[in-house]
Amino acid sequence: MALLPILCYPDPKLHQVARPVQQVDARIEKLIADMLDTMYDAKGVGLAATQVDVHERLIVIDISEQRDRPLVLINPKLGWTSAEKRVNEEGCLSVPGIYDGVERFDAIEVLALDRDGVSRTVEADGMLAVCIQHEMDHLLGKVFVEYLSPLKRNRIRTKMLKLQRGERD
Ligand code: NI
Repeated sequence: MALLPILCYPDPKLHQVARPVQQVDARIEKLIADMLDTMYDAKGVGLAATQVDVHERLIVIDISEQRDRPLVLINPKLGWTSAEKRVNEEGCLSVPGIYDGVERFDAIEVLALDRDGVSRTVEADGMLAVCIQHEMDHLLGKVFVEYLSPLKRNRIRTKMLKLQRGERD
């Protein structure tokens, strides 16, 4: 088991755009295992490779209560999306302690490789759909706070910088 350090907003490395995974090999298998360990340890429901400073298109998710249903998406591509959108409260391991509403598609279809390198289509709605869209944004260098107003974003930025310097509000 290996825990990877998670980048914290406003680290500029969170805005790097990930490139596709070329081959699902031993290196990627190890990265998946480490990312799952890191996500479970941090009590998160999702983690994108970008957040652990690996800029390749790979995300891990587990929204199950028992924390025993990992979903691994490699090179995910958005297919069909619902006409309906909805605002959901989101948080992020890279922006600890911050939760706010973001509008996302209600339901989506995603094409991706699984951890065995097999091509799959995943249909998702509800929390899973939100989570996948949030994590896929990370791969594009986008953090959810970028959907918020500049005022809110600046407040969050200041708060995170203080937190990282070990100061209190
Ligand atoms: Ni996140």
